Amino acid sequence: MPVITEIEDLRRLYKRRVPKMFYDYAESGSWTEQTFRENSSDFDQIRLRQRIAVDMAGRTTKSRMIGEDVAMPVALAPVGLTGMQSADGEIKAARAAEKFGVPFTLSTMSICSIEDVAAHTTKPFWFQVYTLKDDDFMRRLFERARAAKCSAIVITVDLQILGQRHKDLKNGLSAPPKLTPKSVADMMTKIPWGIEMLQTKRRFFGNIVGHAKGVTDPTSLSSWTAEAFDPSLDWNRIAKFKEMWGGKVILKGILDVEDALKAAEIGADAIIVSNHGGRQLDGAISSIRALEPIVQAVGDRVEVHFDGGIRSGQDVLKALALGAKGTYIGRAFVYGLGAMGEAGVTKALEVIHRELDLSMAFCGHRDILNVDRDILLVPRGFSGDWA
Ligand SMILES: Cc1cc2nc3c(=O)[nH]c(=O)nc-3n(C[C@H](O)[C@H](O)[C@H](O)COP(=O)(O)O)c2cc1C
Repeated sequence: MPVITEIEDLRRLYKRRVPKMFYDYAESGSWTEQTFRENSSDFDQIRLRQRIAVDMAGRTTKSRMIGEDVAMPVALAPVGLTGMQSADGEIKAARAAEKFGVPFTLSTMSICSIEDVAAHTTKPFWFQVYTLKDDDFMRRLFERARAAKCSAIVITVDLQILGQRHKDLKNGLSAPPKLTPKSVADMMTKIPWGIEMLQTKRRFFGNIVGHAKGVTDPTSLSSWTAEAFDPSLDWNRIAKFKEMWGGKVILKGILDVEDALKAAEIGADAIIVSNHGGRQLDGAISSIRALEPIVQAVGDRVEVHFDGGIRSGQDVLKALALGAKGTYIGRAFVYGLGAMGEAGVTKALEVIHRELDLSMAFCGHRDILNVDRDILLVPRGFSGDWA
């Protein structure tokens, strides 16, 4: 068993164990990948203030996100095709999250269905929806989420159309993978992954296949997106989805102050400052640069969450100090899942928790709820002064 001490260890293992098509799907951003890279590298510009001779005993990272108790303010982000990174991947990740005491968000584009995940967990999870054209299908999705006792809906508002990721096109990404000489040759080197995958029946988009009408190629993410997603989305439609659901709503994919204010106006319970992990508009600013102006603009009108580029507990701490009430990890948990299945997701959470807890202490705090901007050294102009 390799010694895992950091998220990067999990990424390296993951790369060895999962077919290239799925590794590339996770480990990429759109076009030049500038925003994908800067999501992580911009965290390095912020420094933490070391404090000494403060009581560091009896620490806690417990908090709340949209009124739900969390062991630390770090949720698992919705990630499509998670069940291709490891057989039954969404079930494994949801179970790891539940045991750890953090929220799990199931993607619309998951392999395991809403019902599959509900049947294998005991606590409510969150369900992420894309904004689709077909109202009947949306209504049914909400009904299924209600029946599965999901406690919140995450509406992703930054993907009406799909950003281009070169590697997915070159690899011919699909679920399940199409058998070409190249993909077969690659899978031959990933035997344990393949054996597990052959043992499960969950290899298609579980929320879509058998539920959506008129899907020409249900194995292709790009063709389904082009056919079903609503390019004419507007705020009225977002408000309509909120009404259709009738419960707690988190709007995901907000990077601009004006959009954040609009989200507060329509009464979202929370927003996620996010650029979809750098997978949509390449050239957009990193999420961490966008965070503070949004927090300042919305005040306490809406709870502000954050994702993008988190690879350590120090990153989580920085986002919290800049005003986020909760954070999400996407790739960090996918690395763990691909590396070691459910145990790998638990490992990813443990690594981040330990780093968060110790870094908080080194900054002079014992309670995550007391952490504020004071623990940071932020370079002038970090969040803007853009013309
Ligand atoms: C492989 C992959 C698939 C994703 N699929 C979805 C999705 O189905 N729905 C969604 O709202 N966001 C999706 N995202 C975006 C994540 O929810 C999240 O915003 C992003 O991963 C955060 O950045 P990080 O990976 O650097 O933590 C995906 C991200 C990745 C890496």
